[in-house]
Amino acid sequence: MITVLGLAGSPRRNGNTELLLDQALAGAASLGGQIEKVVLADREIYPCRHCDGCIQTGICNIKDDMEYLLSKFKTADRLILATPLFFMSVTAQTKLAIDRCQALWVEKYLLNIRRTLASDGSRRRGLFLSVGGLRRPGLFDPAKATVRAFFATCDVAYDDELLFPGVDSKGAIKEHLTALQDAFNAGRHLVTSS
Ligand SMILES: Cc1cc2nc3c(=O)[nH]c(=O)nc-3n(C[C@H](O)[C@H](O)[C@H](O)COP(=O)(O)O)c2cc1C
Repeated sequence: MITVLGLAGSPRRNGNTELLLDQALAGAASLGGQIEKVVLADREIYPCRHCDGCIQTGICNIKDDMEYLLSKFKTADRLILATPLFFMSVTAQTKLAIDRCQALWVEKYLLNIRRTLASDGSRRRGLFLSVGGLRRPGLFDPAKATVRAFFATCDVAYDDELLFPGVDSKGAIKEHLTALQDAFNAGRHLVTSS
């Protein structure tokens, strides 16, 4: 069974990105994916201190909810990250978790430990879901760069993205003609595509 970890990065519960995430997870589950959702704002995640404690071992010195999350980032067959744009990037809650992946960066790039394959032998893959209140060219480019680095560090291929500009008030994503169905389909695609 393909395991799918969904990260809700918004501090606004049941907001636009969480609605998208829920649909994507439902799509994955509809094809037998074993889904888990983590709301980052509900977890205790301290910032990376750049203590270099992980440099020799790939093990982070800070003991908090990232111990669990890092183990999941290493083993989940698929990752879904859902975050709105905050000041052109991911939310602070999301960035806290991403920065703590320095321990995984050490594993991959210094210790040469690779985790490319999912439990069924397929490539581990990730889906990025985002919304922003603004509409402008390149709106999602800074956030995409961060998420690409996150997925690469987890050894997860950046497989797909759904990015919706002009979505601001809580629940506004429901007024988009296709967004929720798109997210459901993307979740299905994530567990089926090779
Ligand atoms: C602190 C803060 C910063 C924001 N910065 C941006 C931004 O830089 N660009 C943008 O398009 N929208 C920005 N927004 C708007 C949110 O991305 C938008 O309201 C989004 O729909 C929130 O998604 P959520 O319901 O999943 O939390 C910002 C909102 C907040 C609260």
